[in-house]
Amino acid sequence: MKVGILTGGGDCPGLNPVIRGVVRSIQNAGGEVVGLLEGWRGAIKGLTTPLTIENTDEILGKGGTILGSSRTNPYKRPEDVQELLKTYERLGLNALVAIGGDDTLGVASKLYADYKLNTVGCPKTIDNDLSCTDVTFGFDTAINICLDAIERLRTTVESHRRIAVVETMGRHAGWIALEAGMAAGADYILLPEYPADVEKMCKVLADRRAAGKKYGIVVVSEGAKVTPDEGYVTQNAKVDDFGHVSLGGVGNLVAEIIEKKLGVETRCVVLGHIQRGGSPTAFDRILGTRLGINAGRLVLQGKFGRMVALQGTSIVDVALADAVGKSKVVDDDFYRDAAEFFEA
Ligand code: F6P
Repeated sequence: MKVGILTGGGDCPGLNPVIRGVVRSIQNAGGEVVGLLEGWRGAIKGLTTPLTIENTDEILGKGGTILGSSRTNPYKRPEDVQELLKTYERLGLNALVAIGGDDTLGVASKLYADYKLNTVGCPKTIDNDLSCTDVTFGFDTAINICLDAIERLRTTVESHRRIAVVETMGRHAGWIALEAGMAAGADYILLPEYPADVEKMCKVLADRRAAGKKYGIVVVSEGAKVTPDEGYVTQNAKVDDFGHVSLGGVGNLVAEIIEKKLGVETRCVVLGHIQRGGSPTAFDRILGTRLGINAGRLVLQGKFGRMVALQGTSIVDVALADAVGKSKVVDDDFYRDAAEFFEA
C-alpha cells in the first residue's frame, strides 16, 4: 500500500498534524506514504518527498505545511490532468489524500468522478466555509489570533479615544469576523452575508461614545459589502487558477466612513496573512490529528471519493461531491446571537 498526500490552497495551522496523522495510520498498517510537494503542482510535476513516522514526529506544533502549497488547478489545462495521472502511475500510488479547501477538494472529487482515482479528502481552511463538516481546522487558530490582536488594539485605542476597524480574512464567508468579533465583544461586526447598514453602525458607535465608552472596535470581514453598488472590495484585478479575486481593503473604507460621519479619529488594521501564521491551537492540533488518522483509515478500508469531517464530536466520512461546490456561510441563528449586542 503506497499513499500520496498533498496540501493545496492557502496554508493554515493544523496541516502538519493531519500529515502526521495520515502517516501514522498508514505506516502502522504496514503501508508507505509519499508527500507530493506544493499542492497539485507537485502531483503534475512529480515533486515528491518521503514521509515516515520518524520525519513527521516533530511537526505537530509547526504551522504551515512541510509539503508546501499552491493554488495550482490541474483542470485549467487538460494536459496537466494527464501529467498528474502519469505521476500517480509512475509512483505506484494506491491512493491519494488531498488536504485542502473547496478548490483542492473539488479537484480530488473530480479526479474520482472522471478517472476513478482513489482520492480521500481532508477539510482545511481558516475560512471555515466547507460544507458537511461542523468546523475546519485552522479556523480556531485564526480566530484566536484575531482575538489576541483585538485585545492588543483595545488598550491603544482606549488610550487615544479612537475607533479601530479590524479587517479579517474569510473570503465570502463571515465566520472569522463573526466569531472573533463576538469573542472580543466588538461594538459592531460587518459580514459578507448581511447588507452593511453603515448609518446604523455609526449611530451605535456614537451612542456608545455618548454613554461613556471612549473608544470603539468594529470588526469587518474582507468580503463585506459597504459601497453603494454593494460590491466587495478587491486588492487588484488578479484572479487565481480557480477564478478567485484577491479581497481586501474594505476596512479602510469603513474607517473613512466612520471618521467622516463621527469626526472621531479612526484607524484600520488589516490582519491579513498573520491569521494563517504560527503554531496551531490545541483544538486544531487535535482536530488535525483525528482527521489525518481517519483519512488514513478510509484509505485502508478502500473508501474513496470520500472526505473526513467533524460532526458533533465524531469524525465521520461524507461524499467529496457533497462537500464541495457550496460554501457554508454564516447562519441566521448564529448572527442573531451576535447582533443582539449591536442591532437591538
Ligand atoms: O482561503 C483562505 C484565505 O486566507 C482567505 O481568507 C483569503 O481571502 C485568501 O485565502 C488569501 O489568499 P492568498 O494567500 O492567496 O493571498
